[in-house]
Amino acid sequence: MKKIVDKPDLYDLLYMDVTEDIGMYKRILKDVKNILEFGAGSGRVTIPLAMDNHFIDAVDISSEMLQSLKNKIKNDKFLSSHINPILANMCTYTSNKKYDAIIIPLTSFNYLLTDHEQKQCLGSVKNNLLDNGFAIIELLSQNTFLDTNQSEDLAFIKRLKVDDSSYYDYYRKTILDLDNRKIYQRRLFKYYVNDNYISEEELEWKNRFVTIDDFEQLVNKVGLKIEQIYGNCNLEIYDSTSEDVFVKVRRK
Ligand SMILES: C[S@@+](CC[C@H](N)C(=O)[O-])C[C@H]1O[C@@H](n2cnc3c(N)ncnc32)[C@H](O)[C@@H]1O
Repeated sequence: MKKIVDKPDLYDLLYMDVTEDIGMYKRILKDVKNILEFGAGSGRVTIPLAMDNHFIDAVDISSEMLQSLKNKIKNDKFLSSHINPILANMCTYTSNKKYDAIIIPLTSFNYLLTDHEQKQCLGSVKNNLLDNGFAIIELLSQNTFLDTNQSEDLAFIKRLKVDDSSYYDYYRKTILDLDNRKIYQRRLFKYYVNDNYISEEELEWKNRFVTIDDFEQLVNKVGLKIEQIYGNCNLEIYDSTSEDVFVKVRRK
């Protein structure tokens, strides 16, 4: 089954409303020039950061997502000079350059489905950071997955407007596999033009969650340390009721 990242246009429609973290990244990166973004995707965070005059090496493993980013910036000299799209695996990515900051937004880290890959990715973060650099990694929050309503069947979630005459109705079914730390979603998009059903597409989404304790162990193993954990986009300190998890790490 195809994945949501195989369909960047649908991805963009689905995450169009997610904008709060962009302000947070702008704030935390305000003194940083060179950024490495892992899992940059179609540029939801990358483009606004570039507009603020940051230089971003944007790594993604999906050629579809990266092509979408390229299409968005290709006719804009400023953006093209600030964003360097790179098709690569963030678990093994190495560069001659070292970065002031590395970001892994919107739980891209949880797209890594094994402990080994997650550890490799953190190793790659360490290797690509300057000695005094830092990384911000957003993790899937325990509170999100424990509250997950495992619907019996596909449940209607929301309508995604394409233009004045067309839209997608978005349905979702979530399956939580706590033993294997996996969270799966079947995501169904029904396409309508002038309220007439035209077609549908079912895509899958999979994430692997880590507890904060396990994440800390992985971080320590690769020679990084946790400096702070924020619980929301206002950079308030994480506690067990927080909705979000943004972990700031540095080299040991
Ligand atoms: C949730 S999307 C985030 C995209 C974008 N950063 C955003 O905030 O909208 C996760 C992205 O991680 C990418 N990704 C997943 N595994 C990856 C890997 N091993 N290396 C690089 N990118 C990966 C996916 O292709 C996808 O574009």
